[in-house]
Amino acid sequence: MKLERIAELLEGVWGMAPREGKIVYEFIRDAKIRNILELGFANGASTMYLAAALDEAGAGSILTMDNQSAKVRRPNILDLMEKTGLGRYVTPVFADASYSWELMKLLEAESAPRFDFVFIDGAHTWETDGLAFFVVDRFLRPGGWLLFDDLEWTLGGGGMKDVPWVQDLPPEQKDTPQIEKVFNLLVRGHPRYTNFRRYANWGWAQKRLEAGAVDATAAVLDATYDRLGVAARAGKFVNRVLHKIRTGR
Ligand SMILES: C[S@@+](CC[C@H](N)C(=O)[O-])C[C@H]1O[C@@H](n2cnc3c(N)ncnc32)[C@H](O)[C@@H]1O
Repeated sequence: MKLERIAELLEGVWGMAPREGKIVYEFIRDAKIRNILELGFANGASTMYLAAALDEAGAGSILTMDNQSAKVRRPNILDLMEKTGLGRYVTPVFADASYSWELMKLLEAESAPRFDFVFIDGAHTWETDGLAFFVVDRFLRPGGWLLFDDLEWTLGGGGMKDVPWVQDLPPEQKDTPQIEKVFNLLVRGHPRYTNFRRYANWGWAQKRLEAGAVDATAAVLDATYDRLGVAARAGKFVNRVLHKIRTGR
């Protein structure tokens, strides 16, 4: 499915913005990614951008996980699978408590590497996503990519700040961007990972290739961002300045 069409179908749906959708769509399509794991689908907007890119090749699959609470979203992922006609690429898992538990069950059932791309956009906490990184690593093929969303997000500054368990946290844990800690300390510090990229609120990392193997997906990623220009790479501050220059506001 063309990018313009999926963006049109997702208009008004909460979640991945069209500009971000364009980045993942073009990367998945151009890097010829086929097997995807996603943690945190919410309404399913990001999932549909990924599925639309797979549809351009007519092949691939997405295993995606969220909580039961995602069922009551309107539209929910099941509605979007039907509306877009992309449902055949997507297997949603509605966890009773957390994708941490679902990942344990997946590991128990099979531990062979089978994903080329994992998008982590769920709990955004050190405990949950730090563990997720190590489990997901077992499923990621050499040369496969990890993408972490919301490197700058904090529990105390986002939409969860009024949730009782968040209010009970020590200030340091509320105010620290926890995914940034996972990315900087666990992923960047891991000997099996390379080709780190930090663009705006996203962190990318590639699992090292097997000795002698070659691939061009890092160049594909850089070319994707090159086409999009400076705004796609920049963080909130630079984008605020660019917006001010463009609009005077
Ligand atoms: C930012 S939203 C995902 C947005 C989506 N990826 C998009 O871009 O359209 C985060 C989602 O993660 C889910 N989530 C958070 N912690 C989770 C956990 N431990 N297990 C399963 N889902 C979780 C939330 O229910 C929420 O729907």
